[in-house]
Amino acid sequence: MLKIYKLGDEILHKKASMVPDFDQTLRDLVEAMFETMHQGDGIGLAAPQVGVLKRVFISNVTGDEPRVFINPEILRTSIEQSTYEEGCLSIPEIYADILRPSAVTIQAWNERGKPFRLDAEGLLARVILHENDHLNGILFIDRVNAKKRKRLVKLYDRKVKNGCA
Ligand code: NI
Repeated sequence: MLKIYKLGDEILHKKASMVPDFDQTLRDLVEAMFETMHQGDGIGLAAPQVGVLKRVFISNVTGDEPRVFINPEILRTSIEQSTYEEGCLSIPEIYADILRPSAVTIQAWNERGKPFRLDAEGLLARVILHENDHLNGILFIDRVNAKKRKRLVKLYDRKVKNGCA
């Protein structure tokens, strides 16, 4: 189990760097990330959330296989957008409706260095865009207006103080 960094930790706002080597260290990180994500009942997790500023994220959406994205690049997003209530293991107990493109085409490498390209829609597209944001230091609450964000941060602080988050 890895420590999950929470809202307020500076690392969540930093840009992650490219993975230079597809080595055992990377595979160990990915494996530990899957354990940590499953423990937290998450469907996605990005390396900066566990204190590693590398361009790595994983997903495990219901009905889909577990996926690993290393050095991902978003090639295309749909013009069509949709709203979905998002949460994040780094901001427990907080949820908000977020507008994002409904579909995405992404290119990445898996943990063994195999390149792939993927067209995703629905919840998988949503997770990909949310996790890819983490690699650029962006949290889902950064995608609501300032007033709403202030309210969500306040709510989170109150939950932390009460020991719920
Ligand atoms: Ni997140």
